[in-house]
Amino acid sequence: MSIVYKEKEEQFHLHTRNTSYIIEVLEGRYPVHAYWGRKLRFTDRTGLVDLREVCSFSPNPLDSNKTLSFDTMPREYPDYGRSDYQSPALSITDSSGSHLIDPVYDSFRIEEGRSLPQGMPGCRLTADDGCDTLVLTLRDSILDLYIDLYYSVSEEYDVIIRRTEIRNCGNKPVTLNKVLSSTVDFYGDSDFEVMNLYGAWTRERQVSRIPIGRSGHLVDSKRGASSHEQNPFLALLRPETDEFSGDVYSMSLVYSGSFMAEAAVNSYGKTRMQIGLQEIDFQWQLEPSGSFTTPEALLVFSPDGLNGMSGIYHRLFRERLCPAPWSKRERPVLMNNWEATYFDFNEEKIKALIDEGHSLGMELFVLDDGWFGRRDSDASGLGDWFTNLQKLPGGLKSLSDYAHRKGMQFGLWFEPEMISPDSDLYRSHPDWCLHVPGRYRSEGRNQLVLDMGRQEIQDYLYGSIAAILSENGIDYVKWDMNRNITEAGSAALPSERQKETSHRYILGLYSLMDRLVNEFPEILFESCSGGGGRFDPGMLYYMPQTWTSDNTDSYERLFIQWGTSYLYPPVTMGAHVSEVPNHQVKRITPIETRGNAAMSANLGYELDLMKLLPEEREKVAKQVEFYKKIRRTIQFGDFIRLLPPSSDRGTAWMTVSDDGAEVLVFYFGHLLRPNDLGCRLKLRSLDTDRLYMTEDGEKYYGSELMYAGISLPPLDCDFDSRLIRLQAI
Ligand code: GLA
Repeated sequence: MSIVYKEKEEQFHLHTRNTSYIIEVLEGRYPVHAYWGRKLRFTDRTGLVDLREVCSFSPNPLDSNKTLSFDTMPREYPDYGRSDYQSPALSITDSSGSHLIDPVYDSFRIEEGRSLPQGMPGCRLTADDGCDTLVLTLRDSILDLYIDLYYSVSEEYDVIIRRTEIRNCGNKPVTLNKVLSSTVDFYGDSDFEVMNLYGAWTRERQVSRIPIGRSGHLVDSKRGASSHEQNPFLALLRPETDEFSGDVYSMSLVYSGSFMAEAAVNSYGKTRMQIGLQEIDFQWQLEPSGSFTTPEALLVFSPDGLNGMSGIYHRLFRERLCPAPWSKRERPVLMNNWEATYFDFNEEKIKALIDEGHSLGMELFVLDDGWFGRRDSDASGLGDWFTNLQKLPGGLKSLSDYAHRKGMQFGLWFEPEMISPDSDLYRSHPDWCLHVPGRYRSEGRNQLVLDMGRQEIQDYLYGSIAAILSENGIDYVKWDMNRNITEAGSAALPSERQKETSHRYILGLYSLMDRLVNEFPEILFESCSGGGGRFDPGMLYYMPQTWTSDNTDSYERLFIQWGTSYLYPPVTMGAHVSEVPNHQVKRITPIETRGNAAMSANLGYELDLMKLLPEEREKVAKQVEFYKKIRRTIQFGDFIRLLPPSSDRGTAWMTVSDDGAEVLVFYFGHLLRPNDLGCRLKLRSLDTDRLYMTEDGEKYYGSELMYAGISLPPLDCDFDSRLIRLQAI
């Protein structure tokens, strides 16, 4: 049983395969956090949190017990307004204007399996995954407001999933100002470093790791999307933690909109870590009998360093977050015409690219931006989801038939959430975009954002997209989103609900995606937001892969894919070979290295294949052929980071197939150096006594590869790379 209630001690012991998480109810009133870490058993005793009386500046909520102050108490779900001066998980305003609330332990229940948050994505774990759910209910007696804390515990997947539900059983409305999904307070423990994944457009998910110190850390997005700038993820690590050993405590939010994650140590050395919806563009009017549910937060602890943490997320995301039909299905080698043609294409050009891609072994052709409305540049057309017959006189169907006749699949780009002011849709519905009456509507890439919370807009998009998908034999969709939200107001909401607009946007987006992916389960959906501006677990629930970055330079991609891999497995990452000089950074790198970087994830090609030199053509054909042989391992094996891109010896990672029989080692040099003795790379996760053979027939024991390391062949030029395939014999 993954959840044990100890009645006498008033404790809840949650156990995953390798982790324990323990909650104790103090004074019959306050659920406090007693432990999170390696799996353990406590003897039957109470007082796991050793609270002590402190000074008068930390007032006591109960006359009867002076050792209690919220300032020191590691509460499971902290509010604000009494003696907890750290950032709260919950902030409300009641109908009298007061923000006080006193949530006191009310009851608990344990459910088999788990339910997902209403209308939101989440991990599809069931009782068969050794998953049960504890619901701890707190109640404020004056407002008759209930707070349900959900903890789903999966032994098999080694994860604890938290979310919060607020129910208004009183007879007055309550305004929710901040409702986070999860808080963990570490009592008397502040020996941490904070890790997060930051970035910008074309520079997503770089790694930041700094000592926690004594000031607060805020990792957030206010952009209406999870963003290029910060991923909805935060980890606390011990200073000695590295890729292979040491404790990691992490939270990842299954949400695609604005979010916040916080870490801070208070004056008593209590560390608070929490994650949930962003507070600045959020407020929710909770009417009597109404309820509100937060997105879910995934809590992963690993005693085996960062690779240990990533391994847990990777398996969970692959098998229980991404849509079930895709959890084991191999992804096709695709070609995309964006960097090949941009908006400048016609039927003939597309057919020629299809011919060329087909002869090189590619399996899916993706027609990117520009096939619809009057869209010859980014200045017009978004929202008009009908084929541009001037550009494509035969229509989409003839192109998809053309690809299908060759045995290739056919995919299409959409940017459903946007509207160009120069579009028929905007001319007929100027109030469908997010805006505040009388205020300027800021454009980004000449476009405005649709108010996705509105049912009629979701219905319009559903109708027009579903028609195109079903009438034209579409096998794949790239779902893009190319600007962030501004002026988040809705023409459909009353004034007191305007601050609900951003969250309603995400709920509306989820509802639309849910309808479409359920209607078309055979279509492979890939999400995108100017590359990886919305690479988050929320999107992965609907769409099993994401275009990792608009930056296709193979050296920059090492940093981006390395950072992305902390949470997201290679099968969720789109990676394309593009032309040189690279369009984003003008760098020239060898075609082999562009191939190796892209082959580390879901391989695609995004360049004008007609311009390939004969020797390049030959190399591309070989890459595609080789990738098909190794893709099962790449897409469904265990990925391990070895040498970071920040190292001066190059970057390395490896993947081991799920049966352990195939091992792929990727090594990327950066700049060549004189008198270089090369590098011995120590592999991981192999069977010590098994023999492994390279493609050249060289044999090694697992112990040799792991403890002595493999000597990497000398590199021939800057940005050269090697892919070594080993097979167990
Ligand atoms: C975004 C995407 C690109 C491409 C363009 C088309 O920038 O990330 O891959 O689809 O839009 O406009």
